[in-house]
Amino acid sequence: MASLKAAVIGAGNHGAGHLRMIADEPEMRLVGVSDLDEQRLAAAAAYEPEVSATDYREMLDRARADVAYVVTLPGHLLPIVRECLERGIHTSVEKSPGNTSADTAAMIEAEAASTAMAIASFNRRYYPQILAVKRLTLARGGPVHAAATYNKTPSDRVVENMRRGLMPPALVCDAIHHVDLLRWLVGDTMETTGVVTQVHSETYRSSPARERHNAVITFANGARAVLMSHFGVGTRIQRAELHAEDFSAYMDLTRMSPPEEAHRPDTFELFADGDPYEAPLDLAPEGGPHFNETRHFADCILSGRRPWSTLEDALVTMRLCEAIYAGHKGPFDGAVRSPLP
Ligand SMILES: NC(=O)c1ccc[n+]([C@@H]2O[C@H](COP(=O)([O-])OP(=O)(O)OC[C@H]3O[C@@H](n4cnc5c(N)ncnc54)[C@H](O)[C@@H]3O)[C@@H](O)[C@H]2O)c1
Repeated sequence: MASLKAAVIGAGNHGAGHLRMIADEPEMRLVGVSDLDEQRLAAAAAYEPEVSATDYREMLDRARADVAYVVTLPGHLLPIVRECLERGIHTSVEKSPGNTSADTAAMIEAEAASTAMAIASFNRRYYPQILAVKRLTLARGGPVHAAATYNKTPSDRVVENMRRGLMPPALVCDAIHHVDLLRWLVGDTMETTGVVTQVHSETYRSSPARERHNAVITFANGARAVLMSHFGVGTRIQRAELHAEDFSAYMDLTRMSPPEEAHRPDTFELFADGDPYEAPLDLAPEGGPHFNETRHFADCILSGRRPWSTLEDALVTMRLCEAIYAGHKGPFDGAVRSPLP
């Protein structure tokens, strides 16, 4: 019998992914769905929630959820996340956690005043293949270098949502995945992120949604990372690299398995001591091939442990995104002034 009653607020494109993950999670049972859009609410009925309502407060009143997944656009998140935490409901916050780091900081305040805990839904951290590569890298002496590419062609809908203030700039809203992934890959332990000490960013734009970013990030453990993130270029490409002494992993996260098989990166190339590293990734220590952020959050709630991607940690990633977006060059202590309104 599932022990956690779950609700989803925002049953749009990505909300459907959370509905699937909840359906697959043995410790969760879907009790409520809310979306302002009647058609989307009707489509979510396929997951058989006990309560469906366009008004999320009404849904929360009736469904009595233990955990809520807030999957609206970033500009809508803060009041809903606050409301869930005030009600003592464990809350998953979609990326980006707000439009600015000030929004994320306000969510942290709400969590501090709550009996519940929050997780930032940085799903790349939870791919078992990513975790297995991180473990191999740590076993080989630790990370020396990481790199990430995150390129995309923003749709007209995205450009319009940015214009309406519902989404921050593309780097913060979207490429945040790979800014966060670099911090995660460079961490000194399986459960921690790397501590950023310096950022050197070269950023330029040809129009608001056509952002170009190249950044070199220095970490306290001596590793360096490079981010290249360009919007309005050829197509959507998501790649990452992680290197230790005499060890390299090249990870293509662009092509994913069909959603019904769960989202998984499927093209990883590994090399050790000059040769291809042929051993299959051992996913058992990472919770098996179906591990994801939903499984992790259920475990955290049931055991009282804090998640890997806390809001405090997400705030550092948000501030790093804002520093890169601002073309910051110099020391970084997480307190770089946000260029965003
Ligand atoms: N982690 C990932 O890989 C990933 C991928 C895509 C999108 N996302 C994130 O997911 C979020 C949603 O993106 P999307 O593409 O699904 O957007 P979307 O516009 O398709 O869906 C958002 C939904 O939220 C609903 N909504 C807004 N305010 C509401 C309210 N007060 N009550 C109830 N419903 C409300 C809207 O009606 C809409 O259906 C964004 O933050 C985006 O950045 C994450």
